[in-house]
Amino acid sequence: MKIALICGSISKKSHTRVLLTYIESLLKSKGAETVFWDLSLRPLSIAIPEYHKNPLQSPDKNVRDFVTLITSVDGLVLGSPLYHGSYSGVLKNALDNLAYDAFRNKPIALVSNSSSIRNCAHPCEHLRLVVRALYGYALQTQIGTANSDYEEKGTGLLLIDEEIKKRCLLLTQELLRLADIFTKNHPCI
Ligand SMILES: Cc1cc2nc3c(=O)[nH]c(=O)nc-3n(C[C@H](O)[C@H](O)[C@H](O)COP(=O)(O)O)c2cc1C
Repeated sequence: MKIALICGSISKKSHTRVLLTYIESLLKSKGAETVFWDLSLRPLSIAIPEYHKNPLQSPDKNVRDFVTLITSVDGLVLGSPLYHGSYSGVLKNALDNLAYDAFRNKPIALVSNSSSIRNCAHPCEHLRLVVRALYGYALQTQIGTANSDYEEKGTGLLLIDEEIKKRCLLLTQELLRLADIFTKNHPCI
């Protein structure tokens, strides 16, 4: 099973990145192959409408590699910080670089982070609409964390909330179960 994780925060010390990295470790422990696409390390050019129908023609190699990656995976985890009441523009631009049905038959897990517990799940709720538009299936389980769920450790951050860790396990189980159903071309679907 191959799963891509996409981080919509380009902050050097990102809580969203720490959350995604924790989920990635759980996926790996269950035998999944993972690819972590960090948009701070491999940025994508602003989506060019002329390549909307065929993004593999994009002049940006990062975009072509990103599109190829998404085609190759069985499921995804999208992570975003709360920016002005929604998910980040960096993540939206990444999704805008994909073809209209890039998530067809793929389960998509949604996670987000905000400085406070208030509205921390808004990015997930808003991303559900976009996942649907790309023909994907957003998982029932989603995770919204607040900065208080993390602790400073050395120069980085550590996820410390045990309830959130349990939800991460539930989310990975649901993601892998659905990816397994989709990849087997179940006769009912
Ligand atoms: C452009 C921008 C917009 C933001 N908008 C909100 C907001 O609407 N509400 C809020 O509570 N926090 C807002 N924040 C704070 C971020 O949600 C917070 O810093 C969060 O920890 C970022 O996640 P990260 O550490 O993964 O980058 C905003 C931050 C930035 C940079």
